[in-house]
Amino acid sequence: MASKVVVTGGAGFIGSHLVEKLVEKNFNVTVIDNLFAGKKENLKNVWKDIEFVKGNILDSKLLNSCFKDADFVFHEAALRSVRVSVKKPVTYASVNILGTIKVLEAAKQQNVKRVIYASSSSIYGNQKIFPVKEHFLPNPQNPYAASKACAEQYCKMYSQLFGLETIALRYFNVYGPRQDYLSEYGTIFPIFVNQLLHNKSPTIFGDGKQARDFTYVADVVEANWKAMRASKKAVGESFNVCNGKTVSVNQVFSLISKALGKTIQPNYVSVRAGEVQKTHGEPSKARKLLGLQCKMSFQKGLPKTVEWLKKEFFARDFR
Ligand SMILES: NC(=O)c1ccc[n+]([C@@H]2O[C@H](COP(=O)([O-])OP(=O)(O)OC[C@H]3O[C@@H](n4cnc5c(N)ncnc54)[C@H](O)[C@@H]3O)[C@@H](O)[C@H]2O)c1
Repeated sequence: MASKVVVTGGAGFIGSHLVEKLVEKNFNVTVIDNLFAGKKENLKNVWKDIEFVKGNILDSKLLNSCFKDADFVFHEAALRSVRVSVKKPVTYASVNILGTIKVLEAAKQQNVKRVIYASSSSIYGNQKIFPVKEHFLPNPQNPYAASKACAEQYCKMYSQLFGLETIALRYFNVYGPRQDYLSEYGTIFPIFVNQLLHNKSPTIFGDGKQARDFTYVADVVEANWKAMRASKKAVGESFNVCNGKTVSVNQVFSLISKALGKTIQPNYVSVRAGEVQKTHGEPSKARKLLGLQCKMSFQKGLPKTVEWLKKEFFARDFR
């Protein structure tokens, strides 16, 4: 019989790509998502192959029933807007920290073999030395980052205290098809593409020299796949999931402008609260222990993403 796996937040951007990979590999996949940000439409390619449970990760009874007989849990569900977290720290702590504890507790009770946790590069915050390595002291700059760092500690602690296998993957600035393009709190890709397509001048916060280590969504899926199959040496550990190369916001803007054939000047405004100046990860620990090598270069991933966003925006304008 095929292994059963559960993906929390599986209707979201990253979760839905992961679900597709797991279905392709013949796993029995259960998705738990309250559709706060995720969409059933993200799962349309695999809808008939999965069990979809609309529910909240704060519901322990539901988690216990979904985790019964599951071998692996991929914990992707979270609230993930830095800006909203600054306004709603309690809500973010509740879903991202308490929600993770409830996932770990149910996994322990149901004897799940391994939990793979979607952590974040944001936990590093502002650092003096780059690229950042996993042993650096976290320095979260906003409630979202603090909640991800705290939940990661719980994963590690559950491995040490209860022997529940956990692995935390610190994703760096994930981009690709299905990333949120409707929310005003979305990331720079959809915001730039939307504004340029509508001949508006995109806003850049600060001087645009902020550097980001962009990671294509397929590489993040691969990291989860490798973490599921990794040896026990990886258990209780955290791993950067990154390219180890940076691109500035100004560069992203000019590459997107070029891809869309636009020559509109951006509008520079003051820096946003809680935003870090740089993300730049060192990928060698994941290469050594997980065998992970991010394959998609930014030069190839960007046009793919811009093409997808263009189609979505056109479809929306003519709906
Ligand atoms: N996108 C990135 O660049 C990035 C970077 C670092 C880490 N991460 C982490 O990766 C994970 C997935 O992120 P994403 O970009 O796919 O975001 P997303 O918002 O698209 O996906 C999160 C999913 O969780 C669901 N969810 C939220 N609260 C829930 C709850 N209480 N119960 C059940 N489901 C709930 C949402 O409906 C959504 O489908 C998150 O944990 C996020 O913190 C993302």
